[in-house]
Amino acid sequence: MALPKGRLLEPALALFRQAGFEPSEPETTRKLLVPSSNGALAFLFVKPADVPVYVESGAADIGIAGTDVLREAAADVLEPLALGFGACRMVVASPTDTPFPSLPGGVTPRVATKYPRLTRGFFAEAGLGVEIITVSGSVEVAPLLDLSHWIVDLVDTGRTLRENRLVERAQILDVGAVLVVNRASHKLKLERHAELLKKLQDATTPRAR
Ligand code: PRP
Repeated sequence: MALPKGRLLEPALALFRQAGFEPSEPETTRKLLVPSSNGALAFLFVKPADVPVYVESGAADIGIAGTDVLREAAADVLEPLALGFGACRMVVASPTDTPFPSLPGGVTPRVATKYPRLTRGFFAEAGLGVEIITVSGSVEVAPLLDLSHWIVDLVDTGRTLRENRLVERAQILDVGAVLVVNRASHKLKLERHAELLKKLQDATTPRAR
């Protein structure tokens, strides 16, 4: 079971705990592959963007990922269950005095993002020519230092945008955590997967109410 380190880890572990699985090591462990206390599965702790890589390749049977990294990776995996946490949205944002959807003088906008594929797709569909600058975090700082004119990033409470004097210009994607399953291993381990899925589904339902 590949779990994303970072914001989704706590709700993901809480869901597994609710479903009867918990890591056999304390949260402070630096081990990256940890069996569950009941021995039924092993947790693999990886960077969020790597969950689709592990699951699509079959290195992990199952994982939890945000639809942001899943769509960015265009991962060919099954998505049997939306988990009801990690909700946020992917948006285009820019400083208040940097217009959107075009810049004065026909300047080609530079867009900083962790999501180059989705960003390219969004602007291609909108018919806007942009230059994409790929960074791996703290994207909101890019326009403040003229690295970019606009950004594409996730917004949850909106606090990071506000505190960096950025305003939302357009929405690209609704994002949330989902369970992802390797296609081949789902066929090979159908019964075990169905059993786990049922437990996770039951554990998810009360949260959605
Ligand atoms: C995420 C996201 C935004 C911020 C949005 O970053 O990339 O920067 O959270 O949350 P808010 O709307 O509630 O302020 P994260 O803290 O995960 O770190 P990162 O910048 O390194 O990606």
